[in-house]
Amino acid sequence: MAFLDSIRGMFGPVRVARNEYAVSAPPTTYSVHPLTERQSKEVLKLNQRCFRNGENYTKHTFAYLFNEPRSISYQIATANGEMAAFTFVLLNPDGAAHLTTIGVAPEHRRRGLAAKLLSHLDEVLRVKGVSTIVLELRVSNLPAKRLYTDSGYSLINRLKNYYSDGEDCFLMVKSLV
Ligand SMILES: CC(C)(COP(=O)(O)OP(=O)(O)OC[C@H]1O[C@@H](n2cnc3c(N)ncnc32)[C@H](O)[C@@H]1OP(=O)(O)O)[C@@H](O)C(=O)NCCC(=O)NCCS
Repeated sequence: MAFLDSIRGMFGPVRVARNEYAVSAPPTTYSVHPLTERQSKEVLKLNQRCFRNGENYTKHTFAYLFNEPRSISYQIATANGEMAAFTFVLLNPDGAAHLTTIGVAPEHRRRGLAAKLLSHLDEVLRVKGVSTIVLELRVSNLPAKRLYTDSGYSLINRLKNYYSDGEDCFLMVKSLV
């Protein structure tokens, strides 16, 4: 997602990692917890593994998000406390929420963790009176597009040259009402 691009740009280039091919993790149980600044290092590391094309957030972006009162974040932990997934949402002044990022460790993918985080966010945001969630994603990110469609998001627009490398984005929206 390109949101917070301007903040990212203030802190220099982001490390670009090579693709990672993960062996699936052994079966475990998962639980959702609020993400706190104490987990900054762990979430930074996981986000670098999830976003390997240079669009991962820097430690400064996470520091900003953890200290921004409009920000809400959750993680999914395994039975032994390892972080397997994370997400951040920003509450907009207009009452809508902006899903800024979501990532699942490669070895824990296709186990419903992202869908679980999205549904957890729906519940939390409904309680806060939020009526709409918006997000952007790269048009090439077909796994994420399917995840969001399956989770009730609708594609409402395609924004040209949205990302710094010129790729377009899809704008998707979900109504919580
Ligand atoms: C996209 C991402 C968050 C999905 O996480 P996940 O935990 O594996 O997703 P889930 O298991 O909850 O999948 C839910 C549904 O999404 C769709 N989906 C998820 N990954 C998919 C894939 N690789 N290919 C096709 N569909 C996929 C499927 O419909 C899936 O349901 P199914 O498994 O019953 O078919 C994860 O692949 C990821 O972290 N990618 C890198 C970071 C990223 O692109 N984040 C989104 C930025 S916009």
